[in-house]
Amino acid sequence: MNYHVLTLFPEMIEQGLNTSILGRAREKNLITLQTTNIRDFSTNKHLKVDDYPYGGGAGMVMQAEPVYKAYEHVKEQMGSEKPLRVIYLTPQGKVFTQELAEEFAKEENLVFLCGHYEGIDERVLDRIVTDHVSIGDYVLTGGELPSMVMMDAISRLVPGVLNNDVSAEIESFHDNLLEYPQYTRPEEFMGEKVPEVLLSGHHGNIDKWRREQSVIRTAQRRPDLLKGANLTDKEKRIARE
Ligand code: ADE
Repeated sequence: MNYHVLTLFPEMIEQGLNTSILGRAREKNLITLQTTNIRDFSTNKHLKVDDYPYGGGAGMVMQAEPVYKAYEHVKEQMGSEKPLRVIYLTPQGKVFTQELAEEFAKEENLVFLCGHYEGIDERVLDRIVTDHVSIGDYVLTGGELPSMVMMDAISRLVPGVLNNDVSAEIESFHDNLLEYPQYTRPEEFMGEKVPEVLLSGHHGNIDKWRREQSVIRTAQRRPDLLKGANLTDKEKRIARE
């Protein structure tokens, strides 16, 4: 997976994706990251990339030309024949979900366009953006953090990035259920014991208990997800209790 990020703050992206699992995935070239500073494509002698909005109003708008030139630069460098997915991070976009992460993970290249201030001139968005994506119904100061959130969620679906292939499958949102509770040593903490069944070594019973816990947890914390879950009649009863 090759990520290309168009941003005014490349150092933020570089630092954010340099640690832990994503850092290792980059070392192994399972994912690559290229950042392009939009300011490098300013045609202004003060390297300005924004201006006042036509029609008035608060804040500044990022100009079309530097963004378009930065995009063309990336496209040329990649020399990809396939049409590129260009994701613009915006609270006006489609809300990012695990399902969308799975869709993007199938691509070989993804371009992220990070805006700042009051947004980007609509004329360049119309010409280059294929996907408008929001990470949730709140407003952030720029697209950098949302792009990193997306790259994190997508990268862990790339084969080899996680050590164990199963964990990407059994976790929260698989089958629209939240993950079951987890425990590790010691067996007793502040007087509370680990559930007996987990010490039994009986994998059939353990799987059954975990599935049930997933259903209960989802019913308590995210009942909205249950609509999309595949529950047996017994599980539906458990969810209602
Ligand atoms: N830019 C500002 N807020 C955002 C959000 N919630 N999602 C994606 N991009 C954004």
